[in-house]
Amino acid sequence: MLMPLLLLACQAPPSAAPGGLPAVWGPEAAVDHDPADDVVEVHLTAGHGTVEWVEGETTEVWAYDGQVPGPLIQARVGDLVRVEFTNELDEPTTIHWHGMRIPDEMDGVPAVQDPVQPGETFVYEFVAPDPGSFWYHPHVRSHDQIERGLQGLLVVHEEAPPVVDRERYFTLDDVLLRAGTILPATNIPHMDAMHGRFGNTLLINGETDVQRDVVPAGSVERWRLVNTANARPMTVEITGATWRVMAVDGTLLEEPWEPPRLMLPVGRRFDVQVAPDGTGPVRLVSVVRTNAGRQEIPLFEGLVTGSRGPAALPDFDAPELPAPRAVEQEVVIELDAGSQDGSLAWTINGDVYGEGDAIPVQAHRPTRILVREHSGLDHPFHLHGQFFRHVEGGAAVPGQLDTILMRGGDEVELYSEFDNPGVWMAHCHILEHAELGMMTEVHVSE
Ligand code: C2O
Ligand code: CU
Repeated sequence: MLMPLLLLACQAPPSAAPGGLPAVWGPEAAVDHDPADDVVEVHLTAGHGTVEWVEGETTEVWAYDGQVPGPLIQARVGDLVRVEFTNELDEPTTIHWHGMRIPDEMDGVPAVQDPVQPGETFVYEFVAPDPGSFWYHPHVRSHDQIERGLQGLLVVHEEAPPVVDRERYFTLDDVLLRAGTILPATNIPHMDAMHGRFGNTLLINGETDVQRDVVPAGSVERWRLVNTANARPMTVEITGATWRVMAVDGTLLEEPWEPPRLMLPVGRRFDVQVAPDGTGPVRLVSVVRTNAGRQEIPLFEGLVTGSRGPAALPDFDAPELPAPRAVEQEVVIELDAGSQDGSLAWTINGDVYGEGDAIPVQAHRPTRILVREHSGLDHPFHLHGQFFRHVEGGAAVPGQLDTILMRGGDEVELYSEFDNPGVWMAHCHILEHAELGMMTEVHVSE
């Protein structure tokens, strides 16, 4: 079983929002140390900490500022974000800002930045170019460092955010515990090499208990969801409410989308508009299919108070995305399994990371990216530093993405104009696959 079903009430306060930004309920907020309105200065330390995920057991974690997930960073689009980062771990690390189209020197990848050594400090500084729901995590031995707790959330608010009564950010994760201890990942066992590490304990905002709060009747909320697991796709349903998807990865949708449930590949974000329908509590539920059948695990429960009738989901403004232009260059990305030193490896264009050539691309050019999967297994494919569109039947699917789930055997067409020059990683976000080679560099030159 994933999560104890005898659950205790647990209510997190809304995060205090700096400088007039909407409060976001969820992980504890980062403190903004800079008084200027358009500068957010955060101090983060990666170090050792403890949590109690199994009753009576102390679990040692690696954490930003001692909390899992790390402090919730908030900014407004166009703000300067400065993160003074200190590494108090016993090994090198970096911070990568997943989904952010920032300069590559600030992207936190060892291909560009020397990892921050134990005891060292590095200042990440960038202007937040896009509003949206993002997250941050190491890009050094990510399969181990993220699993142990190094992960945090970042919200970049729109200039004029869609009006809601409350925002919440939920991070879904699973962790593999044995007697309260996170199993180390020094050697990746064959099953994990194959499918990525699946945890046995589900975490919602770093807690094993269902999260609870009050949701006033007649209100409308914006829920941001991210899957930060090593490998597990997370399927969720929202009950007791009318709801629809308002943003995918970093972009508001021109046409909101009303699926029956949401499947979040690793790394993906969805923002949803939620209005309680008055039939009972509002619930965010994880749906897991096991040999025993379908299991529903409550993640969040909102007690609906008051007697106002249900609100209609309000319209919101979303930027109009330009239609893809005639393609001028093409990039092919072949995902496959291979072997190295007699064990399973994962490849892009036939090579494990570090052994093949980087993929050259011209900046600011309409580009078709063909991604083909050959191993028969799924891979959430992630590209740094750019957004891309998913092209189906010759037309771009609404929204832009930084992560897309490649199903085994699939061929998928993407479109990007590579507006952000630099050295960018492209990889599978199943962290064990990335560690075992399924990662490459895209060199975007002016
Ligand atoms: Cu979320 Cu290369 O990473
Ligand atoms: Cu993969």
